[in-house]
Formats: sequence, structure tokens, C-alpha cells
Amino acid sequence: MTSPSELSAEALTDLQEFLAQCRVQVDAELDRLVPAESISPTTVHAAMRWSLFAGGKRFRPALLFAVGNTFAAPTDYLLKSACALEMIHTYSLIHDDLPSMDDDDLRRGRSTCHVRFGEATATLAGDALQTLAFQTVAEDDHLSAATRVQVLSEIARGAGTPHGMVAGQARDLEAESQNVTGNDLEWIHKLKTGALIVAAARCGAIIANADEAELAAISDYAARLGLLFQITDDLLDVTATAQDLGKTPGKDARANKATYPALYGIESARQQAAQIHEHTIAALKPLNRRADLLTTIADYILQRNA
Ligand code: IPE
Ligand code: IPE
Ligand code: MG
Ligand code: MG
Ligand code: MG
Repeated sequence: MTSPSELSAEALTDLQEFLAQCRVQVDAELDRLVPAESISPTTVHAAMRWSLFAGGKRFRPALLFAVGNTFAAPTDYLLKSACALEMIHTYSLIHDDLPSMDDDDLRRGRSTCHVRFGEATATLAGDALQTLAFQTVAEDDHLSAATRVQVLSEIARGAGTPHGMVAGQARDLEAESQNVTGNDLEWIHKLKTGALIVAAARCGAIIANADEAELAAISDYAARLGLLFQITDDLLDVTATAQDLGKTPGKDARANKATYPALYGIESARQQAAQIHEHTIAALKPLNRRADLLTTIADYILQRNA
């Protein structure tokens, strides 16, 4: 069984190098894709760029690349879809921070979009990032028409409702005033965060022409990884600093959010995270190929401090 202590310095260095390479390529492409601030409506474009280029781990693009690389897809084929995932994710953060949702004023180390530009512009910036994401995939001429439609469908399902991010976000907000069960909480986390992570991984596999069995294994891996990602996000809200996170810690408890630490306590949340990490790695077993990078990514998500 792989344990997180096996995340060697060498593997971590390789992963950091891989993440840095993804970031450089994705950021350059996003800069080409998003309208310049000088173009009207300038405030909407400035707001999109404010949130997009504030930093951020670029985890969903990196996962799409990692899965694509595992099945030997060329980077050119993956890049636009990776950017689309990051646009959808950033839109979800802009809306998540709105006063009517989590009401946060710090994101990616700077003022949230609505604090800087006002609620109306922040709402529109989120809307525009979402539509630009779909446009980007629809117009990606590296991909066949059939692959574009498949990728669009995956992203829409993962981002939307009833089985995607929007559904999870709706339930997350309702849960602030309700007692939730462990099953409810797992469902919320799998949808609000896991569904887009699953979409990223599946898009990488689809673009790389993975077969049905491989796609199933990747989906299983990413579903577990997505749940792990949100549990570690919950834990960091309790244990990390604003400096590390680039967002205000302690907000979940103040907003009475349904989280793993709130429902189970920190120790149990950590133990469950460790167990889900093991299941995440086990899900890669059916793949008839080496998946070292995907294993290291799971280790990193368990141990991340930001
Ligand atoms: C934060 O996502 C919101 C969640 C879904 C938990 P990230 O932790 O990936 O945020 P960035 O992209 O690095 O800012
Ligand atoms: C957000 O979960 C999930 C999204 C779809 C944005 P959180 O509300 O916990 O994310 P943070 O902690 O604000 O980044
Ligand atoms: Mg939220
Ligand atoms: Mg939030
Ligand atoms: Mg959080």
C-alpha cells in the first residue's frame, strides 16, 4: 500500500516541475484567450483577469494534462481544454465569494472580484468566464468535432446541475442552516468540488482516446481525488494561515458550513482523508500502464498546505 510518507523529495520535485510547466503554458494561453482590458467592456475584462491571474494552483488544468500525458496525448491537444477548466473553476470562485454566497473578501491573495469591481461586474465576469470556456473548446481546431462535443458535454455536466458543481453549491448553502448526515456531506463535496475535478480528468482521457475501461478507472480515481481535495480544503480552513491560503481561514465555522472537521473533528477528518487517499491510488490499479504522476498528485493533495 502506498503511504503518503512515500512522497519522496524526488517525486515532489518532479511534481513541482510538472505543475510549474503546466502553469506557464496555461497562463500564456489564458492570456491569449481572455479579451484585453483595453477592449470594451473594460471593467468586465479587467475583472476576469483580476481573478484569473491572481495566482491559483491551476490544479484542474494540471490534472487534465497529467491524465492526458498518462495516455500519451500531445500537449497541443490538451491545452485549450485545460484553460477551459480553469476558466470554469475561476468563475465558480468569483461567484462562491459573492456576499449572497460565502461572502469572502480575500481570494488568491488579493481582494475578491466583487470587493474590487462591485457585485454586478463580478457576476458578469463569472458569467463571461463560463461562456468563454465553452467557446474555447468549441473552437479548438486541434480536436475533431466529435471530441469537442464530448469535452463540452463533460465540462457542462461537471459544472452544472443536477450532478455537477452548481448542484453541490446549492446544497452547500442550504446545509448552513441544517443538520447534515455524513452521506449528505460526502455528496455535497463530491458535487461542489469533485465533479469539476472528475470532468478535468475525463477530458484528459477522452482527448487521449483512452478506452472505456481506462476511462472508468480514471473517473473512479478522480471522484475519490475530488472528495479528498475538498476534505483537505476544509482542514486547511481550520489549520492554515491567510498567508498560506490566500483566503481568509476560519470562515467555514463562522458560516456554520457543513465540513468534515465540523462533522467529525479534525483527527477523524484527517484519518478519513488518509483512507480516501489510499482508495484514490487503488483506483489506478486497473490501468494497464504506469501512472506514477497520478499517484504523486494524490499524495500531494493529501499533504498540501495551500
Ligand atoms: C478552491 O479551489 C475551491 C475549491 C473547490 C475547494 P483551489 O484550492 O483549487 O483554488 P485555487 O485555484 O488554487 O485558487
Ligand atoms: C467551493 O468550496 C467550491 C466551489 C465550487 C467554488 P469552498 O467555498 O470551501 O471553497 P473556498 O474555501 O471558498 O475556496
Ligand atoms: Mg463555498
Ligand atoms: Mg467559499
Ligand atoms: Mg473552503
